[in-house]
Amino acid sequence: MITFDAIPREKLPTLLRTAPKAELHIHIEGSLEPELIFKLAQRNGVALAYPSVEALRAAYAFTDLQSFLDIYYAGASVLLKEEDFFDMAWAYFQRAAADNVVHAELFFDPQTHTARGVDIGTVIRGLHHACQRAHAELGISASLILCFLRHLSEDEAIATLNAALPYRHHFIGVGLDSSERGHPPEKFSHVFQQARALGLHVVAHAGEEGPPAYIESALDVLKVERIDHGVRCTESPALVQRLAASRMPLTVCPLSNVKLCVFKHLSQHNLPALLEAGLCAMVNSDDPAYFGGYLNDNLLQTFEALPALGPREAYALLRNSFEASFAPAERKAGWMAKLDRAFEAAAAG
Ligand code: ADE
Ligand code: ZN
Repeated sequence: MITFDAIPREKLPTLLRTAPKAELHIHIEGSLEPELIFKLAQRNGVALAYPSVEALRAAYAFTDLQSFLDIYYAGASVLLKEEDFFDMAWAYFQRAAADNVVHAELFFDPQTHTARGVDIGTVIRGLHHACQRAHAELGISASLILCFLRHLSEDEAIATLNAALPYRHHFIGVGLDSSERGHPPEKFSHVFQQARALGLHVVAHAGEEGPPAYIESALDVLKVERIDHGVRCTESPALVQRLAASRMPLTVCPLSNVKLCVFKHLSQHNLPALLEAGLCAMVNSDDPAYFGGYLNDNLLQTFEALPALGPREAYALLRNSFEASFAPAERKAGWMAKLDRAFEAAAAG
């Protein structure tokens, strides 16, 4: 039994920073820092529309999801070779290790690269090598989730899944990302059915900018195991009840939501309401290089802005990150035991 009331608020930042945690919603292309974009552009002879790192960073003022995606896809244009994908993911893992991320499930967008003539094997091999090195050198267990771009057709998603099949053992699931509005989950019913038949895990972005109905069709049609974002569920009390009753995880990304104007300010974020309703929510970074912070930045800034979040909620969020992961049950139990010890030590003074 953890005595949450015995943990003083001043201890929360250190506890959040040092406690073990899992990251379940990180687009690896969204971890590409401007410095690395410029380094790779030079290495590969790719011309950029911005004259300097500072000019590029200054362009990171977004008004909605689409305004971000336009810059995000331009940034990814410097990725051409296997070592580029490795370098990008390895840089992320080093940042993640500093945040005590012990398990990470990385989204990647193969269509962003194959559209530029990059072979899908180049993408997956580079990312996979970084995952192997993260495990060997940093002790992070890491897996890949292949995302389909929802602004493209389902036929293109099917072709992408088929092209990735020689690397089936290098990714654990499929997801759905990019422009949400006007591209409902049911557009991808067949490719998700195929993925499920292959034994892949299935997740989808829904209810970030799109309506609660998109969360419902992700559940009912795509039969997803997690909802990415999902914050607009609170517009439908019946849906919130359904998500709570089924412990359907929501991979919430607070800094992303503010940068993309889903919420005006962190202090208005509905994370406290989601936890209060009994949802299996946890905090993630989404696209940390673009949204002003990695996982611990998200946690610390969110707790700073929302006084309703205290030690009990901190524990719930971190525990949910393990519960909702696709790691084997024994590994989850081991991480949860470590998490318990961190909170028990904080409560003991
Ligand atoms: N691709 C990268 N980040 C995304 C987000 N927040 N929503 C949808 N697609 C994305
Ligand atoms: Zn995302």
